[in-house]
Amino acid sequence: MGFDPWNPDFVAYPYRAYDELRRQAPVSYFEPTGQWLVARHADVNALLRDRRLGRSYLHTATHEEFGRPGEPEFQEPFWRVIRAGMLDVEPPVHTRLRRLVSKAFTPRMVESLRPRVRAIAGSLVEAYVDKGGGDLIAEVAEPLPVTVIAEMLGIPDQDRHLLRPWSADICLMYELNPAPDAQHAAVRAASEFAGYLRALAAERRANPGEDLISALTQIEELTEDELVGTCVLLLNAGHEATVNVTGNGWWSLFRNPGELARLRADRSLLPTAVEELMRWDTPLQMFERWVLEDIEVHGVRIPRGSEVALLFGSANRDEAVFEDPDRLDVGRADNPHISFGAGIHFCLGAPLARIELMESFGALLDRAAKLELRQEPTWKPGYVIRGLRALELTAAD
Ligand code: HEM
Repeated sequence: MGFDPWNPDFVAYPYRAYDELRRQAPVSYFEPTGQWLVARHADVNALLRDRRLGRSYLHTATHEEFGRPGEPEFQEPFWRVIRAGMLDVEPPVHTRLRRLVSKAFTPRMVESLRPRVRAIAGSLVEAYVDKGGGDLIAEVAEPLPVTVIAEMLGIPDQDRHLLRPWSADICLMYELNPAPDAQHAAVRAASEFAGYLRALAAERRANPGEDLISALTQIEELTEDELVGTCVLLLNAGHEATVNVTGNGWWSLFRNPGELARLRADRSLLPTAVEELMRWDTPLQMFERWVLEDIEVHGVRIPRGSEVALLFGSANRDEAVFEDPDRLDVGRADNPHISFGAGIHFCLGAPLARIELMESFGALLDRAAKLELRQEPTWKPGYVIRGLRALELTAAD
């Protein structure tokens, strides 16, 4: 089977197809999406840092000038929110937006959140083990990062249940060639989310608290759209992948019981284990870039106006970089995985994600001497965002 992102068998195990791409066609044109697939680690890493490519082209050209049709009118509310966040803009706007929020995410700032993250993880895991287990995703993997990022931003308790469904619907647009109903769901979610945040920001502007939304309302150079776009981005990016790394990570450990036993026996391996779980089953399989000036990769000329699809899941299994890449090795020391990206859009939340993952894996290892799979999990249908529907476990101390 070749690269086939709409085929459930490919989604379940894309790594064999990636091996072939890396060997035989490290850069290849994929007709169904009109994108150039890039499969090798060195190329993915280099293109993420190459300023001749961008997450957007709208800072250099209009849709027409770029030879692209532009989005249908009904999607306007979606793009208005998404393009106001730092992830979908390029310098100089990116530099300004990233600078304004990066203070809240420095390793030192984030380290000060560790006791709170530990307490939340501890109480979720406690409740999970007390009732003998259940769906790890719904009971531990989701509520931990959602609570952490919602507390940081100051989303009231009673509204937090809204975040997951909004985020899930918005993410539908990031899959390849989304179906019309998925596009409409994403637009609806983005409008509702933006409306909610506009109202909350107005309240905090008048009556600021200690939270990040209050702090952002005090920054004069931030427009209202930018404030809303920033909050949507932080709330979504701030939990979506972490949920999936937790589920995928435990599923990886169950498929490699020797490595789970090794981690149980030597807890100092937790930091390298978290990095390895992110490499071995990559939570965000692909990111796209627009080609702003002609480039050449392995003798293939990719002209301005093209789109490249950088295959993170493939880069993370590249034998040129990782020794024995298909082996899960929780002690892997040399692990330059690409799961947090590279270059100017490198994940702002990486230090926070690492703390959340270490605390939740650590709490489960501490509290549940017995953790067993009740049934084989199934993958959600999306290819780009890789996650399990549920992970049913039996847990006991
Ligand atoms: C394991 C969990 C996570 C993974 C795998 C992950 C992965 C990524 C990746 C690959 C990018 C770059 C996308 C690109 O270059 O196109 C990114 C960007 C970003 N991430 Fe994360 N992320 C995670 C957790 C978080 C958390 C907890 C936050 C917290 C707020 C966060 C906030 C962001 C933001 C704001 C950006 C945009 C940065 C920019 O454009 O300059 N992420 N993330």
